[in-house]
Amino acid sequence: MSKGTFYITTPIYYPSDNLHIGHAYCSTAADSMARFKKLTGYDTYFLTGTDEHGQKIQRKAEAQGVTPQAYVDHIVDGIKSLWKLMDIDYDDFIRTTDERHVKGVQRIFEKLYNQGDIYKSEYEGWYCTPCESFWTELQLKDGKCPDCGRPVERTREESYFFRLSKYQDWLIQYIKEHPEFIQPTSRANEMMKNFLEPGLEDLCVSRTSIQWGIPVTFDPKHTVYVWLDALTNYINALGYGTDHDELYKKYWPANVHLVGKEIVRFHSIIWPIMLHALGEPLPKQVFGHGWLVIDGRKMGKSVGNVVDPVVLCNRYSSDAVRYFLMREMPFGSDGEFTLKSMLIRINADLANDLGNLVSRTVAMIEKYYGGAVPERGVVEDIDRTLWQLAEETPRRVEEQINAFQFSNGLAEIWKLIGECNKYIDVTQPWVLGRTEEGKPRLGTVLYTLAECVRRVAVMVGFVMPRTPERIFAQLGVTDDAMKTWDSVLAPFGVLPAGVQVKKGEALFPRLDVEKELARGEGAPADAKADKAEQKPQAERKPEKKQEMKGHEAPAYPEEIAIDDFFKVKLQVARVIACEKVEKSKKLLKLQVSLGPDGERQVVSGIAAYYTPEEMIGKQVVLAANLKPAKLAGIESQGMILCASTPDDSTVKLMSVEPGVPDGAIIG
Ligand code: ME8
Ligand code: MG
Repeated sequence: MSKGTFYITTPIYYPSDNLHIGHAYCSTAADSMARFKKLTGYDTYFLTGTDEHGQKIQRKAEAQGVTPQAYVDHIVDGIKSLWKLMDIDYDDFIRTTDERHVKGVQRIFEKLYNQGDIYKSEYEGWYCTPCESFWTELQLKDGKCPDCGRPVERTREESYFFRLSKYQDWLIQYIKEHPEFIQPTSRANEMMKNFLEPGLEDLCVSRTSIQWGIPVTFDPKHTVYVWLDALTNYINALGYGTDHDELYKKYWPANVHLVGKEIVRFHSIIWPIMLHALGEPLPKQVFGHGWLVIDGRKMGKSVGNVVDPVVLCNRYSSDAVRYFLMREMPFGSDGEFTLKSMLIRINADLANDLGNLVSRTVAMIEKYYGGAVPERGVVEDIDRTLWQLAEETPRRVEEQINAFQFSNGLAEIWKLIGECNKYIDVTQPWVLGRTEEGKPRLGTVLYTLAECVRRVAVMVGFVMPRTPERIFAQLGVTDDAMKTWDSVLAPFGVLPAGVQVKKGEALFPRLDVEKELARGEGAPADAKADKAEQKPQAERKPEKKQEMKGHEAPAYPEEIAIDDFFKVKLQVARVIACEKVEKSKKLLKLQVSLGPDGERQVVSGIAAYYTPEEMIGKQVVLAANLKPAKLAGIESQGMILCASTPDDSTVKLMSVEPGVPDGAIIG
C-alpha cells in the first residue's frame, strides 16, 4: 500500500552541448531521492526537462544556420542519453518548446493579466545610448552610466509587469510561518535579508526585443520573460489548467523542487507569488543545494572548468560516479570536485569495503559449505550486536535521506559494512573452518554475513541502481520479496538458509590512482589544456610562426565544430589602468572592465607596440575564459587579441566599433 504521493523535480536545464558533472549532481540527487521514496513505499513522480528559450539559443542557432528548434532538438537528444547513461529514471521530461508547455504559459499569462496581476506599463529607467543599456536609479554610479561613465537619458519601453510588490507582505509572512519551505534554513535567511526585506519591485515579464520565446497571446510582439516561462513547467507537465489534469490533482503541490543555490530566489520568490496569485498551493519545499567547485570556483560553462560525466561513467561506471557525488560532500554545501578524491573514494568504499565484504562472504560460503548459505548455529553476543545494527540501519538511513542528507545516509550503510568487515576479522571464520568444533560458530558467522550483504544490497540501490542485482546474483537471491525495503526493516534473518551463492567478478575493481590520474581523463576541461595555456603568449608565438613559415602542417585543424568555437568566451573589455611590467620589455599589465562582469587583470605582450598611456580608455577584445596564467610572475586572467604578421613587424590590437558596451559578448 502506498504511503502517499511524492512529487520531485530538478530544474529544467539550459540546452548546452555538454552538460557537466555539476548538472549531473543535481539530477543524481533528485533521482536518488525519487528511487528512495519509491523503495520506501511512496507513489513517486519525478520530473526533469529543458529550458529552451532565450536570446543565447537564438544566437547559437543562427550561427549554425539552423532554426532554434532544430538546434535544441539535437541537444536535447544528447541530454536524454546522458540521463540514460546515468540511470536518471525520470517519469516525465518536459521541454519548454512542448506545445503543452507553451499553451500552459500562455493561459497562465492571460489569467494573471485578466485578474490584474499582470499589467501593461512602461519600463522606465535610465538609458545609456552608446552602451544601449537600461539602468535603474540605484544602478547608476554618480548619476552616470556605471559601465562607461557617460551621461544617461531618461527612457521608456512598453512592457508587461507582474505585481510582485502586492504580494510581498504575504510572502514574508508565509516564509516565517513555514520554516520548512526554503531549505537549508540559511538560504531562507538570505532570501529574507537580500530580497524581501529591502522590498520587491514589480517584475518586468515581457520583452519586445527577444523573438525566440513564447508570445503573449493578446499582444504577440511581446515575448514572455524566460523565468516566468520556465517556472511554470512544474505544473504544465502535470496538465494544470487543461481537461487532463489528473496528474496535477494527484501530485500537486510538489514535495520538493531541488535547485542549485543560485536559483533559489526565483523558486522561493517569483514562483510562490505566481502560484498564490493563481490561487494554487505552494510546493512544500524548495531545497537549494551547493555547487561542485574546482579550486573554489563553481564548475560551469562560463569558467570553462567543466568535467564531462560521460567520460567518468564510461570509465568508472555510473554507479561509482553517482556514489561519489552523493557521498563525498554534504548536500547543501559546496564541494570540491577532484578526480583524485573520486578515485580514492571508489577504492576505499567500493572496491575495499563493499567489494571485499561481498567477495569474502561468497568465497567462504563456497569454500566451507559448497556454496549453500548455512543455518545459524551457536549464537554469541557479537552476532546479536551486528544483527541489531543491521536492523537499526535502515531507519537511520531513512531519517537522513528524508532530510536530504545523502552523505550521512550512505555513511550509515557503510558503518554496517565496516562492522561486517571487522566481524570477519574478529570471528576468524578461516580458523573456525579448520575444525569440527568450529562449525556451529562458522554457520552463524557466514549466515550473518550473507544476510547483512543482502540488506546492504537492498539499501544501496537508490544511489547505485545497478549494484543490487550484481550482489543478488552472487548471493543467489532471486525472490523479489527479499529485495524490498520491508525486507530490511524486518527482524534479522530474512535470507533462507540453503540458497546457492556464486562467486562473480569483482563489483568495483581496484583502480591504480596514479595511473588513472596520468591518463588525464575526467580532469576539468581547462586542466587538460593547462600546459598549452600556461605558456606565456610570447613563448607560444614562435611555434605558430615556424609552422606558418615552413608551410608544413597547418597550425589549425582544417575545420572545427561551431561548439568548439563557442568554447572561447570573447568579450569586449575596456582598459581602465595600464602600466609597464618592470624588468620586461614586452609586457604590459592592464586592468580591464567587463562592465556587468566586473574587472580583472591581464598581462599582454604588447609593450613594444603600445604605450600604457595610449591603452587607457581603449576597448579591446578579450579571450575571457582562459585559465589564469602567470606571465613574469604576474597573474593574467585572459588574453587580449591582436593581429600580427608572422615576423611580428606589425602587431595591432583588435578593435571594436564605437557604441558597444563593455562586457559585450563577441560571437
Ligand atoms: O538555471 N554544481 O539552468 P542551468 C552543482 N534553466 N550544480 C550545478 C552546477 C555545479 N557546478 N552547475 C549547474 C537554469 N548546476 C535554469 C533553471 S528552473 C525553472 C530553470 C545546477 O542549466 C544549477 O545550480 O543553468 C541548476 O540547479 C541546474 O544545474 C540547472 O542549471
Ligand atoms: Mg546556471
